[in-house]
Amino acid sequence: MADTVPVVCFPPVETENAHDRLKNLAEKFEKKFGCKPEFFGRAPGRVNLIGEHIDYCGYSVLPMAIEQDVVIAVATTESQDILLSNVKSDLYSDFLFHVNNVEINKETPQWQNYFQCGFLGMVEHLHIQSAVRGMKCMVDGTVPASSGLSSSSALVCCAALVTMHANGKSLPKNVLADLCARCEQYIGTQGGGMDQAISFMAQKGTAKLIEFNPLRATDVYLPDGISFVISNSCVEMNKAATSEFNTRVVECRIATQILAKQSGLEWEKFQRLGQVQRALNVSLPQAVDLVRKTLHEEPYTRAEVCQILGIKEEDFVSTVLSARTAQVQSFKLFQRATHVFSEAGRVLSFKRICEETDSEAPQKLGTLMNQSHTSCRDMYECSCTDLDSLVNICMEAGALGSRLTGAGWGGCAVSMVPTHDVMNFLVKVKKNFYDKHPSKAGKVGAALFATQPGSGALIYLPSTA
Ligand code: GLA
Repeated sequence: MADTVPVVCFPPVETENAHDRLKNLAEKFEKKFGCKPEFFGRAPGRVNLIGEHIDYCGYSVLPMAIEQDVVIAVATTESQDILLSNVKSDLYSDFLFHVNNVEINKETPQWQNYFQCGFLGMVEHLHIQSAVRGMKCMVDGTVPASSGLSSSSALVCCAALVTMHANGKSLPKNVLADLCARCEQYIGTQGGGMDQAISFMAQKGTAKLIEFNPLRATDVYLPDGISFVISNSCVEMNKAATSEFNTRVVECRIATQILAKQSGLEWEKFQRLGQVQRALNVSLPQAVDLVRKTLHEEPYTRAEVCQILGIKEEDFVSTVLSARTAQVQSFKLFQRATHVFSEAGRVLSFKRICEETDSEAPQKLGTLMNQSHTSCRDMYECSCTDLDSLVNICMEAGALGSRLTGAGWGGCAVSMVPTHDVMNFLVKVKKNFYDKHPSKAGKVGAALFATQPGSGALIYLPSTA
């Protein structure tokens, strides 16, 4: 039977927090819209333990869901309007749109545009444009925005989920994850599918190895005695508002095509570094060697890329570059490809170590996380000064490994800490990072916390009792 998103009754009283949260949301909903919600959708954020910026190159990643999530309370209506409201009404204004008139602002995306991505993706997938039901929705998100914990994908996934349920459909989790990964691109970022996959496919108590093409999620049980702590650098990075993210995607694509061309393959057929590695039938360490032999460290100019590929600049702009990267002039191909192949290898080593009963496992996993951060910082250049200093402070505070998580250029670090030492660790990081920055000290409550592998997306039905 297809693995669909669970539909459960209002959580029982033992999960008091979730119960109170839904009750409060239902009350706010009723006050705002004058009726009770019919159901709630829930999609979690995630923390990526290792495997950064490699999902869109076709490589596996290793995230887990976190407790923080997006919940949307919904009542269906006879009209074909979608009425959106957010419990944080001071930050996010109400928004109304007709089901057949969805305009997504790619230049300066607003909160409702992420909802619209999920909504539109689902409507198109189900081919229900003429019959789609109207909805009144109240959104309650607890994933901090622009923090690398996937607040935007949680909103996209939750919007697609509630649209599906409101229209009486049920799709398998992997189909939902695939369609949400594609429709989030309506906003203009060319992300991979990690965030959406873990939001739907997560299970409490286990991290997941996520593989792509076809999408699969395999349990990865972490060794006993270690905990993961998230710390937010409080530097906000909205990947949809800058060209950094898409520039990296394009650099990987150009590196793919040059490696393919110089290895005698039909380069036009290749989009992802993973495809070239498989076509050449080489191991990941051999792929790193190939980069060393084939690409140079100095940035490539447009003219050089065009000359190697044998194409005109206008064709390069229209077929290789994307809307947000049409102006980029130089490309660091050696560094980006080295990061991708080596990071892909670290993900596989991480999983292998988790499967072995090795008393040294925590130290080995920590080393892989540190190597990942160094590669993100120096080769992929997706860190920033505050995040590097936070990672260093986490290591000094007793982490076995620490690294940036998510897209980077700000946002959070994830640290692996011996469970018995977590309290000590939190105190030290607070003192040495947050207390030293007046602008961050007030935010420490929500910015620094230990986390466990959480569960995936759900539909809640209010109990009739
Ligand atoms: C964002 C994207 C993901 C992934 C990460 C970096 O979160 O949405 O697909 O590429 O960045 O690992």
